[in-house]
Amino acid sequence: SQDNKALFIIFGGTGDLAKRKLYPSLFRLFRKGNINKHFAVIGTARREWSDDYFREIVAESIESLQPTQQEITDFTSHFYYQAHNVNDTAEYQVLGDLANRLDEEYQLDGNRLFYLAMAPRFFGTISKHIKSEKIMTENGFSRLIIEKPFGTDYETAELLNNEIGAAFKEEQIFRIDHYLGKEMVQNISAVRFGNNIFESLWNHKYIESVQITLAESLGVEERGGYYDQSGALKDMVQNHILQVVSLLAMEPPTIFSEEAIRTEKINALKAVRVYDEKEVLHAVVRGQYAEGKLGDNSFASYKDEPGVEENSQTETFVAAKFMIDNFRWAGVPFYVRTGKRLTEKGTRINIVFKSTPINVFREASNDPADLPENILTIYIQPTEGFSLTLNGKEIGDGFNIDPVKLDYRHSQENLDNSPEAYEKLILDCLKGDATNFTHWDEVATSWKIVDIIRHTWDKETTPIPTYPAGSMGPKCAFDLLESDGHKWVWEPDA
Ligand code: BG6
Repeated sequence: SQDNKALFIIFGGTGDLAKRKLYPSLFRLFRKGNINKHFAVIGTARREWSDDYFREIVAESIESLQPTQQEITDFTSHFYYQAHNVNDTAEYQVLGDLANRLDEEYQLDGNRLFYLAMAPRFFGTISKHIKSEKIMTENGFSRLIIEKPFGTDYETAELLNNEIGAAFKEEQIFRIDHYLGKEMVQNISAVRFGNNIFESLWNHKYIESVQITLAESLGVEERGGYYDQSGALKDMVQNHILQVVSLLAMEPPTIFSEEAIRTEKINALKAVRVYDEKEVLHAVVRGQYAEGKLGDNSFASYKDEPGVEENSQTETFVAAKFMIDNFRWAGVPFYVRTGKRLTEKGTRINIVFKSTPINVFREASNDPADLPENILTIYIQPTEGFSLTLNGKEIGDGFNIDPVKLDYRHSQENLDNSPEAYEKLILDCLKGDATNFTHWDEVATSWKIVDIIRHTWDKETTPIPTYPAGSMGPKCAFDLLESDGHKWVWEPDA
C-alpha cells in the first residue's frame, strides 16, 4: 500500500458520524499503511477542546478495533483540534494557519480533504469561506466530501449545489452514498459484466421483475427529530435505492472507468419513468410502524418515538414499482421496498427470470403448473454472496421438478478482513477516484423521480397505512405486486 499524503479537515469533528465512522476508518487505513507518516487531521467544532482531549476521544472511537497502546499513540499524534465557528471569517484564518503549519510539518504537498460531517445548512458557508480564506491550496489537491441529505427536494438540492459549486468544481466534490462503498453493491458490476450467462439475459426478454429490499429491524433510534422531517422516501429511496437501481439497470460501460460508468448510470436514471400524481397512487405505497412484537421483544409505535410528532404522517416504509423506459427494460417492473422495524436487517436484490415458455413436464410430473422461476439473489448484508435457484429433477421415480439453490456466501473470515464502506470511500477520495460517489446529475435526476411522490402524498387526506413493528410492512406493499401477478421473493437470511 501507498502512504497517501493528505491533511483531513473534519468539520463536525466532535459529532456522531466522525466518532462512529470516520476515525475508525482512518485508523483502518493507518493500520494498512494507506495513510502513514504523511497525514494529519484537524477536527473542528464549536466547543473548546484541547488536542489531548480530542486525541482521547479519537482513541475511544477506535477501541473496538483493539489497537495496541503503541498504535493508539502513533495514530492519535496526527490529530489536532481547533474550536471553530463556521460563520466567523477570522476563525477560518486561524484554521488556515494551522493547516499550513501541519502541511509543512508532515510534508503533505498541499493535499487537503475537507470533510463536512455536519448539518447541510452549513455546507454553503463553509465552502465559501474555505475558498475566500484560501484554505484550499494551489499546489496539491483540494477535495470536498459531503454527506447526505443533498437538499430536501430538487430545488433545495440545486441551491445547495450552486453554493458549493461556487467554491469547488464538480470533480472536487465527493458526495457520499455509503451504499456505494459496500462490497456487494460494488459486486453488482462484477456479476453483470463478468458473466456472460447473466449479461446476455439481462433484459426484458428474460427477466420478469427485479426486486430490491433494504430492510431494517431497527426503529428510528435517537434520530426521530431528523427522521420525522425526512421519512423513508428521502432517507433511503432518493439515494441508496435509486443508486442500486441504476447499477442494475445501466448499460455495460465500454470500460470500467469513472466516466464511462457514470455516463451509463445517469442514462439509466434518466430512463426511470417520472410518474404523474395518479400513477404515484398506483405505483408507490407507504406505511408507518405501529407497536408490535418481534420474538420476545415488544416495540413502541413510531408515533411514540422520541422526537416524533404525535400525529406524524411520516412514512417509515416505502414500496414502489419503478419502470425504466428503454429498449432493455420496457415492461419490467423494478419493485423496491425499504422500511424500519421490519422482521430483520436484510439488504437483498432478487432478479426473477421468466419461467420457461412451456412446462414440458406437465404430464410427466405431478404438477402441471408453470415451472418455478430461476432467481438470482445478491445478498448485500448482513451476509454477502449470491445464490441462484435452478430447477432439477427430484430424485426417484417419475419426473417431478425440484428447485435447488446454488448458494455462495463470503466467509466470516473474509468479511472480517474486508474494508468497511467508509474506509473504501475515503481511500477512493484520497486517490481522486469518484466512481463510487454520486455525481450532481444523479442527485438531480433522483430528486425529480422522488419529488412528485412526495407532493402527491402531501396532498393525501387519508391517514398513512400502518404495519405492526416486526412485520414486513403494510398490506398495500404486498398488494402492489399481487395486482401484477407477482410476489416478493424473501427468505430469512441463511
Ligand atoms: C442511512 C439512513 O443513510 O442508511 C439510515 O439515514 C439507515 O436511516 C442507514 O439506517 C442504513 O445503512 P446500513 O449501512 O445500515 O444499511
